Amino acid sequence: MRVLIFTDNPTTGETGLVRKEFQDRGVDVDYKAPWDIALPRFRPDYDLVYVPSNMLHRGSTFEMLHRLLILRRMEEDAVVVNPVDSMLNYSKEHLSLQLGRLGLPHPETVITENIEHAYEFAARLLDEDREVVLKPICMARGIGVMKLSRIRSREDLMQFLVWYIRSYGEGVFYLQEYVPNPGYDVRCLVVGGEVVGREKRSNPDDFRYNVAAGGAASPFDDPVYDELAVKVADAVGLLISGLDILPRSDGEPMVLEANCFPGYKALMDTTGIQIHKLLVDYLIRLVA
Ligand SMILES: Nc1ncnc2c1ncn2[C@@H]1O[C@H](COP(=O)(O)OP(=O)(O)OP(=O)(O)O)[C@@H](O)[C@H]1O
Ligand SMILES: [Mg+2]
Repeated sequence: MRVLIFTDNPTTGETGLVRKEFQDRGVDVDYKAPWDIALPRFRPDYDLVYVPSNMLHRGSTFEMLHRLLILRRMEEDAVVVNPVDSMLNYSKEHLSLQLGRLGLPHPETVITENIEHAYEFAARLLDEDREVVLKPICMARGIGVMKLSRIRSREDLMQFLVWYIRSYGEGVFYLQEYVPNPGYDVRCLVVGGEVVGREKRSNPDDFRYNVAAGGAASPFDDPVYDELAVKVADAVGLLISGLDILPRSDGEPMVLEANCFPGYKALMDTTGIQIHKLLVDYLIRLVA
């Protein structure tokens, strides 16, 4: 069995652990970045390609197209995880659409390139005494996730939206109602249709509970959201995914995110679960 770890971010600790775990089990594991490969000469010879980093959403559009072709070439002969289509589709927007299709509860959301639509949505919610969250459609760790809490003049709100789209939105607005909640959200890590770890995250100083934004994580042993997490991961086509689930104040769970490249260091630190070993178990099973 030949495995390739294909990444544009080779220094990540979790990826190093996966690589070592493969090696410890005697698996022939190669490690490449997009810039190690030249098309059309490249002849991949792997059973499994594990892609732990977000190489289609970083860099330029040309790099994205080039990397997509490399991945498609790999997928002709090997199992690529996550599947290339799910990587390509990966965005908060895709998640919102899939949740709507499944009829699962989701915060009221608008996704648009049109600043007038964004303004109307924000102004209406603020008018109704609701708060508004803005997010980049493909980012992580709470970066660029911001909240609008008070009514502003039209000029002021427009000015803010213009600033936001330049600084974080990259041309696309993703606006969502703020969901009042009990002060925590739950991250479930799904691997191959199973939840292998969960953590509860909270932050008294920020509405974003991400550990990277200063939140604190603790173990969450209740499997109450497992079925939902597995269903949503499946709906967005992800074999490995980190689901962020925010309970609404009335208890209704809202899925905020299905991560395509979930980090799990905080989850390992919090729960002691050897996630990299479970990942390698799964990846080996997949091609056995
Ligand atoms: N609509 C919302 N209502 C209340 N809180 C929210 C809402 N959206 C996001 N948050 C808070 O902000 C945090 C970050 O949001 P989200 O998970 O959508 O983006 P992200 O963490 O940057 O992306 P990723 O999950 O890919 O790392 C959530 O964990 C949650 O605490
Ligand atoms: Mg998140």
